[in-house]
Amino acid sequence: MKKIFFTLTSLLFLSFLISCNNKKLTEVVEVPLPTAQEKVTLGFPDDVKANPGSFLLDKLPYSYDALAPSISPLTLEVHYSKHYLTYTNNLNAAIEGTEYENMSIENILAKLDVNDTELRNNAGGFYNHSLYWKSMGPKGGGTPKDTIAVAIDRDFGSFNEFKTAFIQEASLQFGSAWVWLIVDKAGKLKITSSQNQDNPLMRNAAVPGTPILALDLWEHAYYLGYQYRRKTYIDSFFNVINWDNVNENYKNSFIKKY
Ligand SMILES: [Fe+2]
Repeated sequence: MKKIFFTLTSLLFLSFLISCNNKKLTEVVEVPLPTAQEKVTLGFPDDVKANPGSFLLDKLPYSYDALAPSISPLTLEVHYSKHYLTYTNNLNAAIEGTEYENMSIENILAKLDVNDTELRNNAGGFYNHSLYWKSMGPKGGGTPKDTIAVAIDRDFGSFNEFKTAFIQEASLQFGSAWVWLIVDKAGKLKITSSQNQDNPLMRNAAVPGTPILALDLWEHAYYLGYQYRRKTYIDSFFNVINWDNVNENYKNSFIKKY
């Protein structure tokens, strides 16, 4: 009897210890909410300036928090004020004193030697991001209207078929890449993609054409907001596409002369 009593007492004491230990563990791993002083303070896009050179930064046409929650404010700030600024400064440095110094960016992309990786990466980085900013907007999303809507129905069957194909193309990419809606030489809309900072204006393009919509699939474009959930970022992009700008880009693609 004494033995049974001792065993029960030991078990009760052991479970008390485990219970205390779990409580202690919970208290240790608990993450406190940030205080007001710890909140991240966003800067202003207009305060970001490229070094003197041929190209200025394209003005970000909205604030860093304007695309939330689809694009997190910190993502947009770092993307614009660090990555885009670096591509622009590097492009200006790469073309200074060369035949490219006074060319349009489209002309540089069409003419550059793809073995010149410094120029290829930074000219692409500048152009691609400039289009990406304009591809999105705080009142974006929904379905396209006007001329681009007719062209999408004509070339993809419907908006939903276009959306499915665009998301599929994006989902197939591995690593740092871009997905594009382009106008080819025959005036037809096509979806294509490119690796690194390449784009459909370059001589090595698998599917050449004039880009009118750009999706950045580099990790820096989404990781702070989505971490590994790249597919969620791709889906969310459709909540912020600026179809008015895509429509203008489409109409301009027929009259632009480089
Ligand atoms: Fe980017």
